[in-house]
Amino acid sequence: MLELNRISLSYPTATDRLAVLNELSLTLETGQIACLLGASGCGKTSALRAIAGFEPLDGGSIRLDGRLLSGEGACVEPEHRRVGMMFQDYALFPHLSVAANVGFGLRRLEATERDRRVRAMLELVSLTGQEARAPHELSGGQQQRVALARALAPEPDLLLLDEPFSNLDVDARERLAYELRDLLKATGRTALLVTHNQAEAFAVADRIGILEAGQLAQWDTPYDIHHHPATPKIATFIHREALMAQRAQASLRGAPSIAA
Ligand SMILES: Nc1ncnc2c1ncn2[C@@H]1O[C@H](COP(=O)(O)OP(=O)(O)O)[C@@H](O)[C@H]1O
Ligand SMILES: [Mg+2]
Repeated sequence: MLELNRISLSYPTATDRLAVLNELSLTLETGQIACLLGASGCGKTSALRAIAGFEPLDGGSIRLDGRLLSGEGACVEPEHRRVGMMFQDYALFPHLSVAANVGFGLRRLEATERDRRVRAMLELVSLTGQEARAPHELSGGQQQRVALARALAPEPDLLLLDEPFSNLDVDARERLAYELRDLLKATGRTALLVTHNQAEAFAVADRIGILEAGQLAQWDTPYDIHHHPATPKIATFIHREALMAQRAQASLRGAPSIAA
């Protein structure tokens, strides 16, 4: 279980500090998939970086399965958190093969065990046979799978995914969103992903958090976010985006678009 207890985070500016997270709290049960949904610049990446241990907190605490990771004087190193992160741009090592990228977090394992784990991960993400290729030889969707396999390989207690579909073609996104959900459920991983795209959040998540001004405006099931939006602003946001998605689909099918 992941527990964020009133975490605050800010960045220094020339004159002051920019407050990004403002006493943000949430609890994510083990085995669940949650998605933080919010506009660009609202602090989604900062929240993931704080959980992964790349950003110190100004206040509050982060616990994973009861272990204190950040806050109350603690700051566990990223590599000792048992938290895996998939970065928005994937951050694959360009000079390493697919297999070496996936095995990167397994360097401490004995070679045969490491190879076995890399093979299993590549099979899981349907990349068997691509071991020797370089990242630049792969499609965007394949690179995304390598990044996912690399984050999953050390069997983290928590997987963080930063806009996992943003570098993909629009028509691949939804399919891959459902695939990602199946894969996370099959491996039983607890996962927190962030996106500014509502359709992705609804496709993947058991819980959706609406991030506004560094706090959660609502934390609920997709059903309740849709049917019982907590504020007029959330209602407008959810229903406007759904309408735009319908229109985009109608125009893709060549149907006349719905008049505004
Ligand atoms: N390292 C940094 N130093 C200063 N400001 C930053 C830094 N990283 C992000 N910010 C600022 O913090 C705010 C939140 O950024 P971010 O967490 O990247 O948002 P999101 O991922 O939701 O787009 C933005 O205003 C951004 O410009
Ligand atoms: Mg971001």
